[in-house]
Amino acid sequence: MARLYSKVTGTGAALPARAVSNDQLVADLAQRGIETSNDWIVARTGIHKRHIAAPGQSTADLATEAAQQALAAAGRTAREIDLIVLATSTPDQTFPSTACLVQARLGNVGAAAFDVQAVCSGFVYATTVADALIRSGTHRRALVIGAEIFSRILDWNDRTTCVLFGDGAGAVVLEASDTPGVLAARLHADGSQAGILCTAGRIDGGKITGDPFLRMDGQAVFKLAVNVLDSSAREVLSDARMTAAQVDWLIPHQANVRILSATCKKLGISDERLVATVDRHGNTSAASVPLALDLAVRDGRVQSGQAVVLQGVGGGFTWGSVLLRM
Ligand code: ACO
Repeated sequence: MARLYSKVTGTGAALPARAVSNDQLVADLAQRGIETSNDWIVARTGIHKRHIAAPGQSTADLATEAAQQALAAAGRTAREIDLIVLATSTPDQTFPSTACLVQARLGNVGAAAFDVQAVCSGFVYATTVADALIRSGTHRRALVIGAEIFSRILDWNDRTTCVLFGDGAGAVVLEASDTPGVLAARLHADGSQAGILCTAGRIDGGKITGDPFLRMDGQAVFKLAVNVLDSSAREVLSDARMTAAQVDWLIPHQANVRILSATCKKLGISDERLVATVDRHGNTSAASVPLALDLAVRDGRVQSGQAVVLQGVGGGFTWGSVLLRM
């Protein structure tokens, strides 16, 4: 029997209409008495603007739009999908999952639907889970989505975090295929580092108990991120018996240009083979990798047959990589 693989057959993206430049953000924060500057944000992060969801716009809204685009690109209807795996840390509700809310809007009742919570590694976790279910033979066509509205968990009085993030969603259709596809996938976590990047608050007895805002030890995250992005790329390349020279495109989680450049340097991959979107999207957590993949597919950089490494790293601490043949 021919071996079963999973393969990306379409990509999609959704961004809120409102783009906020650094200058606009600096002016808005100044009104609250918070001091920052375009120069600081660009020099430390490479971010120039980010998209911010409108009041009333939900994670499921963005996810549904990205999913519909991915379906159109794959030439599939929602009814042909039998699995939805959605990565988010900013779900619309405690439950049911945002994946179920998206499924209802798409109208494919009966498909399995669930959320994956691995913060900025979420899309790589979700893709790995969907790939395993497809290769097991229980599912044939998956929507894998990363969708976030981080602007709602930011403390807009904390300049060390509120300048870094944005909102958005990205999606892929992943289908059973005789040809690869996902060549290798590896996931990791280190829960002992939970405190360096977290939103600790929870619903408890009708109230929020604990801090409801995102908190981060930026320098600790930076050091860990660069190390694990390097080791995890090497891991999937070794699994597939490939070298960094054979990678056409590196698409890491988009947190900070300095993390992206340091990762490229460690792997010996030139900046020309890096897809970077953090300049225009900020850090969109689980949405950042599929947003970047969709952009590079649509502008013609990522082409059929090419090797692409998707990488996640974020709260948990979690990390992982997926090596794809497009
Ligand atoms: N504007 C102006 N000054 C600022 C701002 C701001 N928005 N934020 C912090 N500062 C000041 C600090 O108060 C500090 O001032 P001080 O020296 O007088 O005390 C100074 O800038 C330097 O602060 P550091 O925290 O040391 O700055 P650093 O160079 O580490 O940059 C940053 C901070 C960008 C967060 C960096 O640590 C980083 O990139 N970390 C990676 C984490 C990341 O990107 N996380 C995103 C989520 S995690 C993930 O997605 C994996």
